[in-house]
Amino acid sequence: MSGKHSTASGALAFYSQLDDFETWKHALLAQLPGLDIRHSSALGDPADIHYALVWKPPAGFFDGMLKLRLIVNLGAGVDSLVNRADLPPGIPITRLTDPQMARMMAGYVLFAALRHARDIPHFEQAQRQGKWSYRHPRSPDEIRIAVLGLGQLGAVAATELSRLGHAVSGWSRSPKKIDGVHCHAGLATLDTVIANADILIVMLPLTPETRGILNRERLLRLPRGAAFINVARGALVDQAALTELLASGHIGTATLDVFEQEPLPATDPLWRMPNVLITPHLASVAIPSSAARQIASNILRVSAGQAPENLIDPGKAY
Ligand code: NAP
Ligand code: GLV
Repeated sequence: MSGKHSTASGALAFYSQLDDFETWKHALLAQLPGLDIRHSSALGDPADIHYALVWKPPAGFFDGMLKLRLIVNLGAGVDSLVNRADLPPGIPITRLTDPQMARMMAGYVLFAALRHARDIPHFEQAQRQGKWSYRHPRSPDEIRIAVLGLGQLGAVAATELSRLGHAVSGWSRSPKKIDGVHCHAGLATLDTVIANADILIVMLPLTPETRGILNRERLLRLPRGAAFINVARGALVDQAALTELLASGHIGTATLDVFEQEPLPATDPLWRMPNVLITPHLASVAIPSSAARQIASNILRVSAGQAPENLIDPGKAY
């Protein structure tokens, strides 16, 4: 697609507290040179806005945007956009499905899984105590890894883990076929998938169906000493139960990028647990240089009266 043939009319509103406006503006203008791109702090008349590129916009953000034709979620998870009271009805919501985002996520997941597979938390602790604490390495195929969510991000991560020689299983709503990954589908299979995971990796969207899906009972199904990795959303997990099971040793170690409340409050016990690695919700981010093309393409499609790509299904909420 070339921006030289842009026919997009109307202005685009940008809102994100994490992403750099000028970088996104530059990347979008390279695709659509004529596009009127406005930062949320200087929107002007909301009735001028035809497109919104947003990450977690505040309540009321869409008020008065009577000509809105497209909302682009500046990320993969759309949980902060669905079912909002301030959305004009029927406006299509798209999300980013950027291969570079999937690669960045796979990098984080590989790092976290290998850290557990190679017992690095054990060696880190031993080093702090000045101990030469030999632990014989396990063969990758003996380490069973389960990936919950086999979408744009989960499928890539599961494939990469299987390439490392791990026994990888995956879980999704609908049946899947992924080379090297033993795929399961549907709620009836979830408990078995969890019970057979030495490392459990959560890559599900947060929806009414998945909220709290990893409750205490399911976490208890993990084999004793298993590792837990959450790169999806904190509210998928009962965080109090997770904390308690990490303290008791039922769950051996965790790598957590997402939390029920973000930022994680300074008083939260997870901060001080030696078997927990915390990162501040950055396992993967949208990359302007690669994602701008799909955003521009959808703006042109909507302008031409066509349906955009990467639409979310409001019924499924992802
Ligand atoms: P996606 O392409 O929509 O894939 C979601 C996967 O979850 C699909 O395999 C889907 O099954 C499965 N799923 C959804 N509801 C289910 C249910 N009720 N039961 C079983 N499986 C279910 O999403 P994605 O792009 O891979 O992203 C996944 C999530 O990662 C996002 O929603 C976001 O919350 C999170 N994320 C986090 C970061 C970070 O930095 N920490 C960055 C990006 C994304 P089907 O395939 O059958 O539909
Ligand atoms: C980040 O969490 C995303 O959903 O893109």
